[in-house]
Amino acid sequence: MERKRIVAGNWKMNLSFEEGKNLTEEIVERNSSENCEVILIPSFIHLTGVQRIADGYSVKLGSQNNHHKESGAYTGEVSVSMLKSIGVHYGLVGHSERRKYFQEDDDLLLKKTKALLSQGIKAIYCCGEQAADRKEENHFSVIDKQLSKLWTLSEEDFQKIVIAYEPVWAIGTGVTATADQAQEMHAYIRGIIRENKGTEVADSISILYGGSCNPSNAKELFLQEDVDGGLIGGASLNADDFMSIVKSFD
Ligand code: PGA
Repeated sequence: MERKRIVAGNWKMNLSFEEGKNLTEEIVERNSSENCEVILIPSFIHLTGVQRIADGYSVKLGSQNNHHKESGAYTGEVSVSMLKSIGVHYGLVGHSERRKYFQEDDDLLLKKTKALLSQGIKAIYCCGEQAADRKEENHFSVIDKQLSKLWTLSEEDFQKIVIAYEPVWAIGTGVTATADQAQEMHAYIRGIIRENKGTEVADSISILYGGSCNPSNAKELFLQEDVDGGLIGGASLNADDFMSIVKSFD
């Protein structure tokens, strides 16, 4: 089965409004890839600006976070219906930085995921082990636990999820998982999806690699059978680097 290939740029808490505008303009003008979907995931202040620039182009919009409730007295929070109203297509959930710095646990992440899916926004659900987990050979069981709440979703809902495997030791460190390590974990993830949701669903889910993915390693990573693209942090802040990663699929 043909799976969707995706290159998503997670800008994290970076870029002024002007810088975000310039970067978006460069990306939408230079993106001609028919081989993968390009998603920009800026902070909230950029979302409408990026949406306006990207309107009419194939680049899609993603959010970095969302509240799980529909609306109400939650000062400082952003609801999924607000995101929907400005054309957000994807929502990031479970990034290791949210798990670590904002104490988001698997129960809350499931609620956030359900909130996105209920409004027709696809969730990019992140998982990934710490360096110590890998050293102790616990990396597969960490991923098992991080994904376990998702098995409660219906098959129909599960099909609206993209998984991002981001080993924490590779995020922002310049150390990338080898292509073999990435393929091994992606195949494992696809295997547990198969066990829980069946072959058809498992074969249709895009699994992205994230963690110091850059123009020099993207092609080799994306050539792996179960690696369907990348979630890019640092290298998504520079149009040349980001577009070069997108072009790895050409
Ligand atoms: P990085 O970040 O590419 O800077 O390692 C990836 C991510 O956290 O999504």
